[in-house]
Amino acid sequence: MSPTASLDRAAPPHTKHSTPTAHTAAATSNRPSAAGGGTPGQSPVRARVPGVERGLPSLPVLHPTIGAPIVDIRTLPREQGCYAYDPALGETAICRSAITHVDGDNGVLLYRGYPIDAVVEHCSFLETAWLLLNGELPDAAQLAQFTRDISRHTMVNEQVHAIYRGFRRDAHPMAVMCGVVGAVAAFYHDGLDIFDARDRVIASHRLIAKMPTIAAMAYKYSQGQPFAYPNNELGYAANLLNMLFSVPCEPYSAPAVAVKALEALLIIQADHEQNASTSAMRLVGSTRANPYVCTAAAIAALWGPLHGGANEAVLRTLEEIGTADRIPEMLRRAKDKNDPYRLMGFGHRVYKSYDPRAKVLRPLCHQLLQALGQRDDPLLRLAIELERVVLEDDYFIERKLYPNVDFYSGIIYRALGLPPVMFTPVFAVARTVGWVAHWNEMITDPETRIFRPRQLYQGPTERPLPAIAERRSYPPLVG
Ligand code: CMC
Repeated sequence: MSPTASLDRAAPPHTKHSTPTAHTAAATSNRPSAAGGGTPGQSPVRARVPGVERGLPSLPVLHPTIGAPIVDIRTLPREQGCYAYDPALGETAICRSAITHVDGDNGVLLYRGYPIDAVVEHCSFLETAWLLLNGELPDAAQLAQFTRDISRHTMVNEQVHAIYRGFRRDAHPMAVMCGVVGAVAAFYHDGLDIFDARDRVIASHRLIAKMPTIAAMAYKYSQGQPFAYPNNELGYAANLLNMLFSVPCEPYSAPAVAVKALEALLIIQADHEQNASTSAMRLVGSTRANPYVCTAAAIAALWGPLHGGANEAVLRTLEEIGTADRIPEMLRRAKDKNDPYRLMGFGHRVYKSYDPRAKVLRPLCHQLLQALGQRDDPLLRLAIELERVVLEDDYFIERKLYPNVDFYSGIIYRALGLPPVMFTPVFAVARTVGWVAHWNEMITDPETRIFRPRQLYQGPTERPLPAIAERRSYPPLVG
């Protein structure tokens, strides 16, 4: 097979099925108990909790419109005298939502019921944003008005320019975005009533409109170039490319193929139900905090390499691998349980079949590289070869680790001319739509309460505090 062939062929389904490894949560303290104290929770003896061992017969069951039934455990403490343990909330629904549905086993992603591939094919980014925010597709008049509303808010207060100057030129743009978006709360705080529908609409529009400007300014600042003001004559993706790549001294017009690819990418990254950054938005929003700081929290969560930061990490991984002959060595590292190294751009918490976003991006990536004449770029050829090798490797097949959205988005962003540090900021621009849609849904949900999870406490039981002269010396846990 030629190195480029794997992008052209249909996404190969993995055939082997494996049972996920049971991870036990044996997070135990290695510290000795002080006199009068102890380290409970380590005993393998199971407490008898009436009802729980009989299969939770008395707990109500909720039925989503699609997907498995959900046991409502809210009455557990009152009726069963216990709590539920679910680190990372992998098996727990944290809210009701009608925005996006992910079926990880079958590789399905629906925006308000519409399959992602249909949305990418038939909708613009702003149509998609309206759909996610409002539940239904806009009619022509609504779309025109929404487009006007968004373009009216694309500029940032001139004072915001000064905030950038407080950062080092080599600051990571995600750090800059986190700071700037949080700082925008200072411009829109007093008078913003999050329980007022009109105020929420304006805050949502401002966030969607200003994020491309803020991201592009972070890039321009890092390059030592003047900020480019938004051009409201341009579409959302074209305006973003214009603010990223135009300079005052010469004309710039983004290639149509680049605009099309970016628009598709923005749509694909617009929402993904209760992912880490959206959950961060909901968590901070549940405290009734200002929506701009909630968004700054979501940006922080997105930055991590296990989440949105993976697209940047994919490029770093490819650079680290360097040449195809080093792929086996990197795969060995990725499989070694004593090595924390993971192959970025592969695997997903929810998708245990081909990521439907990757399925849409794959041919798009191919078309873009072709149109931009980049099929022979050595790094991109390496990416294609890596994907081919991984899809045929037993370790990845058994664990159902497919290329995820960030594998392709990283390649597309690079082809568009963005440096790796700008990949996640552009992802943040897209995901802002999902964040504000979920924030609005949460604020208007009567069941919303401040997030306050429980814990499985495994520290010492109550013990007397010794005077300093009587204390034994223990190695510090931190530091
Ligand atoms: N490379 C090597 N091994 C992997 C990888 C990987 N990329 N991903 C998962 N595994 C292994 C993992 O070690 C575990 O093996 P074992 O069962 O032998 O212990 C098994 O696969 C299951 O993994 P897990 O850690 O239980 O899966 P998770 O749901 O906790 O993690 C993930 C999901 C996305 C964090 C993980 O697959 C990963 O680290 N991938 C690389 C980072 C990445 O590409 N992230 C972007 C995700 S898509 C964007 C988004 O939606 O946020």
